[in-house]
Amino acid sequence: DWTPNAFVEETVDELKEKLGNDKVVLGLSGGVDSTVAAVLLNKAIGKNLYCVFVNNGLLRKNEFENVLQQYEGMGLNVKGVDASARFLEALAGESDPEKKRKAIGRVFIEVFDDEAHLIEDVKWLAQGTIYPDVIESVSATGGPSATIKSHHNVGGLPDFMKLKVVEPLKALFKDEVRRVGASLGIDAELLGRHPFPGPGLAIRILGDITAEKVRILQEVDAIFINGLKEWDLYDKVWQAGAMLLPVNSVGVMGDERTYEKCVALRAVESTDGMTADWVNLPYEFLQKTSNDIINKVKGVNRVVYDISSKPPATIEWE
Ligand code: XMP
Repeated sequence: DWTPNAFVEETVDELKEKLGNDKVVLGLSGGVDSTVAAVLLNKAIGKNLYCVFVNNGLLRKNEFENVLQQYEGMGLNVKGVDASARFLEALAGESDPEKKRKAIGRVFIEVFDDEAHLIEDVKWLAQGTIYPDVIESVSATGGPSATIKSHHNVGGLPDFMKLKVVEPLKALFKDEVRRVGASLGIDAELLGRHPFPGPGLAIRILGDITAEKVRILQEVDAIFINGLKEWDLYDKVWQAGAMLLPVNSVGVMGDERTYEKCVALRAVESTDGMTADWVNLPYEFLQKTSNDIINKVKGVNRVVYDISSKPPATIEWE
């Protein structure tokens, strides 16, 4: 019978055996898989695990600082790299969803490669790949490994991709990863986090990206997500987020006519993201959230709720 405790014990032994005194580099994303992989490896090889957490400037509000602190609190040997400016620069003026993804993937690889080069004599690249990633090979949806794979044919391989690869979660399903994480003592809140796309808010800002649009969407998203938590709805939703639409609409504020941005809120139920249904959130919650957003976020005067299922709509709008 499979148990998380036995898995941890066995895997830690195997990793010790396999990795010996070698150095390993791993990219942390703030998500469940890379975190569990890191904690497992940390248990096996400690400071020989070099974690890199890149801020692409497209994360949720305060996410980089908060999660980095959490990682440090877990005793991980982690370096936070704030490359926001580099990502924003690469995205400037770009509106095409796939080109935005490509630009983000390219910059991520550059930044990660630079960091890997700073680790003297690193031998291994660790990844939080799980079984569904393996069977899908390159999933349509992406994820860090897919981002990397889609760049195989662009010029030569970056050096870090020539490292030997270690993937301790490769045989596990998501729920097993969560159970392993719990048995490793990882915070339940971290393990229960909604999925978040690698390109982050870039694919929730329709059209081109600017620092100001990122700031607006971060504020909106934080109000929505914190509200879901306060109303005890967060764990009933598989994934939620806000989209900043490339549309201005007319509103009134006092005696003034406004002409400002519209945001769409999306919350879905799903098991694997392949199909999804919109969640029937309470009207009172939607009402309060909409008021909060419009009152507190400058530049937004309209909020709509997305009631489309996947298929045919996707979860993300880009
Ligand atoms: P869609 O929008 O295709 O999303 O219904 C399905 C799931 O995949 C996530 N997603 C991505 N994740 N890179 C990622 O790492 C991407 O480019 C990407 N696009 C979509 C999305 O958040 C949802 O969980």
